[in-house]
Amino acid sequence: MATPTMDKVEADAAAASHLITVTFRIRRFNPEVSADATWEDFQLEIDPKERVLDGLHKIKWDLDGSLTFRRSCAHGICGSDAMRINGKNRLACKTLIKDINPAKPITVEPIKGLTVLKDLVVDMDPFFQAYRDVMPFLVTTGNEPTRERLQSAEDRERFDDTTKCILCAACTSSCPVFWNDGQYFGPAAIVNAHRFIFDSRDEAGEQRLEILNDKDGVWRCRTTFNCTDACPRGIEVTKAIQEVKRALITRRF
Ligand code: SF4
Ligand code: F3S
Ligand code: FES
Repeated sequence: MATPTMDKVEADAAAASHLITVTFRIRRFNPEVSADATWEDFQLEIDPKERVLDGLHKIKWDLDGSLTFRRSCAHGICGSDAMRINGKNRLACKTLIKDINPAKPITVEPIKGLTVLKDLVVDMDPFFQAYRDVMPFLVTTGNEPTRERLQSAEDRERFDDTTKCILCAACTSSCPVFWNDGQYFGPAAIVNAHRFIFDSRDEAGEQRLEILNDKDGVWRCRTTFNCTDACPRGIEVTKAIQEVKRALITRRF
């Protein structure tokens, strides 16, 4: 077996000197074991510059393989690891341990308002159904371009913000109206409707507005701004909802 070089030994010692002990307090639920969720603590030695997702990986790989959560890209792109961390919706892959007071236990729970299937995994079907209901695709008739559908920079600017959505559900699952009965379309669906309603190339804006004129549509928003605070992409969610409301009144978009 190769003897570690002095450089490697020193590098390992330097890395170890940065480690701190952190408690992860995780909401556990397994319907095959109990109908009730419980809290479980795990202690970890971890570099505070690592992310909450790294801590969850360490727990799953080294301490308890049954811990269940979603993640895919690990870089804030896929939107699959939204969870409540210290009581706030965040992406685990974008949350550094050092930024959330590691001196106290770090609480990790599933996002609210959607049925918990196991541990941190919720049933996303109602969320994606509302997304599908607002027709999140470009609708055009005729005038097929030979290469691309051109648009001015000014026209593109009108919906630039809402193109950034990664469908993580952090907004919808932080909305008290959605928690109430889960029937409200929710901010994420409205954001994705906004992205097409204000696209000058699209021809189904009226149709989408009528869909959102529903009793469970935009008018249920009480402008609480939780959604804007929760969005990991920095989208001005509440502003987008206000623009859709205004378009419904003026029929100008
Ligand atoms: Fe996530 Fe923001 Fe899209 Fe809501 S608007 S689903 S918080 S990226
Ligand atoms: Fe809900 Fe956001 Fe409106 S949190 S009430 S959708 S401003
Ligand atoms: Fe993809 Fe966090 S794992 S956004």
